Amino acid sequence: MAYRVVRDPSAYQPAIQPWLARASKHAEKGLPEAARPAPCKAILDFQATHPDGVNIQLGAEAKKQLFMLDSKIHYLNHGAYGACLRVAAEAQQEFRRQLENEPTMFLEASVFDSLQVAREEVASLIHADSRDVVPLTNATVAVNTIVAGVLRREDTDRDLIMVTSNTYNAVKNLAFHAAAQQSMGVLEVQLPLDTLLQGDKGILAAFAEALTAHGSKVRLAILDHVASFPPVHMPIRELVGMCRKAGAKVLVDGAHAVGAVDLDVPSLGAEYYTANLHKWLCTAKGAAFLWVARAEQDHIRPLVISHGCGQGFMAEFLWQGTQDWSAWLSVPAAIAVYRSIGFDRIRRYNALRLESAAQLLKTGWCTDLVLGVKAGSACMAAVPLPPLASFPTVVAAPPDKQF
Ligand SMILES: Cc1ncc(COP(=O)(O)O)c(C=O)c1O
Repeated sequence: MAYRVVRDPSAYQPAIQPWLARASKHAEKGLPEAARPAPCKAILDFQATHPDGVNIQLGAEAKKQLFMLDSKIHYLNHGAYGACLRVAAEAQQEFRRQLENEPTMFLEASVFDSLQVAREEVASLIHADSRDVVPLTNATVAVNTIVAGVLRREDTDRDLIMVTSNTYNAVKNLAFHAAAQQSMGVLEVQLPLDTLLQGDKGILAAFAEALTAHGSKVRLAILDHVASFPPVHMPIRELVGMCRKAGAKVLVDGAHAVGAVDLDVPSLGAEYYTANLHKWLCTAKGAAFLWVARAEQDHIRPLVISHGCGQGFMAEFLWQGTQDWSAWLSVPAAIAVYRSIGFDRIRRYNALRLESAAQLLKTGWCTDLVLGVKAGSACMAAVPLPPLASFPTVVAAPPDKQF
């Protein structure tokens, strides 16, 4: 017969790729010592040049030595796409060279060993088990993955997706699009400026009101950890608790959290957490993780079905077609730089610098409205631009203080 008709495709047994089976076994049980790669040359060179840690002054000098940013500009839009550390970019280049030296060996073996090390480092940063952390390219992919996974499950009693009025635009688009496709609705908690200006109290009251009225209908709550516009470090632990108490599944969008705030992901109590690494950890672009609570992993599949199909959570996420993992492989380099400077020192510097920069713009642009400075630990503030006619009026940046 020149064809076959399969009436029960669910009985199909996908072929097992031995290289992917090896990678997921190592992800499950840990890498044997013999397979553990040494730190890349970029990290070793960096450590050799800074044997006692980075003790240069943070500010202009650190920008010059550690980043590739144009020295003539004061780059204020870090929250959008981050800025890559020089060492992370060098590590990325090194891995790209390895890939092109021997593509098959790299893509079917060594990439997984290096990726395992990177996932372990990220897991330790967020106090998680690396078996629950999968690599993705950005937070948008992760949020799409979870929305698809949660909505695939039947739950006719719960027909609302919960967001807020200042959920990141791309995520809000997804919530409305997915709800429309599934004949569901969206519960949008309103957080206008006057509510935000009341701080956590105002935010918690707005959520309490929405959840009291509609909590029993919410299937998935998508909560920003650090909302980007206006920038707000949300009272995330309390919000997760409220949504879980209402019986909703909770996804925390921590796109801005890693590097900016201290994180213990499992202790938040959400089912799902995602964060970008290319923003505040300053890795190469295209590195984010998705953490999924163990009990949920059977229900979450990647958006792309490929060789790992049916072989478990990790195998499915580790292979979604041929891809360039070099941004993810730059993560240990970025973590090495952060550790060498000190996460706390960086956060203290960012908070104080944020405050003085916002103050400078506020004075220069004659506005009283500065949002986000109270959440200094979240690294971002928003200052309204002056009318075009009086723009630009800003003066030189304040001198670096000693950090
Ligand atoms: C709160 C929030 N969520 C998600 C994203 C999306 O990040 P990415 O474009 O890296 O997917 C952003 C980007 O700025 C954001 O601010």
